[in-house]
Amino acid sequence: MAGEMSILGSAVLALLLAGYLGQQYLPPPKPTVVGLDLGTTFCSVGVFHPGVGDVEVIGDEKGRKSIPSVVSFTSTEVHAGYDALELADSNPHNTIYDAKRFIGKIFDKPEDMERESARYPFKVVYSNGSVEFLVSTNHSFSVSPEFIGSRLLLKMRKMAERRLGVAVQKAVISVPAEFDERQRNYTIRAANLAGLDILRVINEPTAAAMAYGLHKADVSNVLVVDLGGGTLDVSLLNKQGAMFFTRAMAGNNKLGGQDFSQRLLQYVMERVRQRFGVPPTRKEDLHHLRQAVEAAKLNLTLSPRVLLEVPLHLESGGPGGPAPQAVLLQEPVTRELFEELNADLFQKILAPVRRVLAEGQLQTEEVDEVVLVGGSTRIPRIRHLIARFFGKEPNTAVDPDLAVVTGVALQAGIMGGAWPLQVSALEIPNRHLRKTNFH
Ligand SMILES: *[C@@H]1O[C@H](CO)[C@@H](O)[C@H](O)[C@H]1NC(C)=O
Ligand SMILES: *[C@@H]1O[C@H](CO)[C@@H](O)[C@H](O)[C@H]1NC(C)=O
Ligand SMILES: *[C@@H]1O[C@H](CO)[C@@H](O)[C@H](O)[C@H]1NC(C)=O
Ligand SMILES: *[C@@H]1O[C@H](CO)[C@@H](O)[C@H](O)[C@H]1NC(C)=O
Repeated sequence: MAGEMSILGSAVLALLLAGYLGQQYLPPPKPTVVGLDLGTTFCSVGVFHPGVGDVEVIGDEKGRKSIPSVVSFTSTEVHAGYDALELADSNPHNTIYDAKRFIGKIFDKPEDMERESARYPFKVVYSNGSVEFLVSTNHSFSVSPEFIGSRLLLKMRKMAERRLGVAVQKAVISVPAEFDERQRNYTIRAANLAGLDILRVINEPTAAAMAYGLHKADVSNVLVVDLGGGTLDVSLLNKQGAMFFTRAMAGNNKLGGQDFSQRLLQYVMERVRQRFGVPPTRKEDLHHLRQAVEAAKLNLTLSPRVLLEVPLHLESGGPGGPAPQAVLLQEPVTRELFEELNADLFQKILAPVRRVLAEGQLQTEEVDEVVLVGGSTRIPRIRHLIARFFGKEPNTAVDPDLAVVTGVALQAGIMGGAWPLQVSALEIPNRHLRKTNFH
């Protein structure tokens, strides 16, 4: 009897042991919660892999880790991301971008909205205090900013599902610190429309700070400078325990990479006029010049000098004039020239930085960490400007385009209960905080 018991006992023990060992050697569970960065110009999705303890930012079908925040409507389909961006030139009236600027936002007067919408090729309509976009394919209809958001989120959900091989239904999402409760609600609604349940909404600057592990570090004051394609956001965070508080916000919603490119484009167009006697006017030429300028801007962050080469077809007369003249523009551009063209714009970055320090009653040396976010913070001159202002090097190890999604994915890992993350960054919402805008 006793012998049988012990055989049974050891069988049970072996089973338990096998279960225990199995747990150690089985592949780690798939992440169940994704982190979403729904940006104004680009979006990304990431996950935290519990086993490895790493964040993976998931690529689209071509492996690109950020997709443009663009949605394009044709008579048969709705495209999102790069597919939509490719339609921007041929289908400008039905290709919507910048929708995040409008999500959940109330416009008291139609005039306020009209001022905002005048710069878009698509039609923005005023609808009872909020905004809708008018789409006209085979038939006309209007879509809300949160619907545009939902198509981008759906695209990212599919990217994640394709990569992970499981259905994705839960997410953490980031929003600008300045978003009010209504804008946060409409962002959640966009996710719900894409079939996603939002477990937590976190502020973008907090996410960026988390990407640098600052939720686990011994720091109290963190300054985040987020300079994207079209906006600058500066936030002063205060950390107490593992919780971040936003102490002050300021920014410039009309300053970003597009403005720096525009300065270079104007310069190059003037050079074309000087060299060939006619300015470029054809749509295709302008498109190619714009692309070349964008590429040159990126190259100049690494090289001190690039050669811009663009074939052009210049028209000297009006309609019925001589045939367009084919020329090759070869224009060297140095980093110094690019910095000179933008010197006044770069200086503008410091105004909101000074403002948040004043509001937080902090001296530059009391800021423990400076975090740079957004592609435009790659520009060496801008990094230098900020380093000199604070007398210390800013955090730049994480790709500035992926810092926010990396932090949101970490938070998603925490929400998904992924071992070994122990620390959770909580945010205390600030109801009375307002963002100061500089122009
Ligand atoms: C849209 O209109 C075009 C031509 O007017 C027609 O060929 C096409 O089938 C229509 N598409 C849809 C989805 O109705
Ligand atoms: C307009 O908004 C008000 C207040 O939010 C609401 O009561 C009303 O039903 C809305 N009207 C329409 C036509 O949507
Ligand atoms: C946001 O959503 C919450 C929860 O659904 C609701 O209680 C709150 O009233 C909403 N706030 C606004 C401003 O829409
Ligand atoms: C930028 O660099 C890439 C790769 O180094 C090169 O292919 C491209 O021609 C460069 N562009 C310009 C405008 O110099």
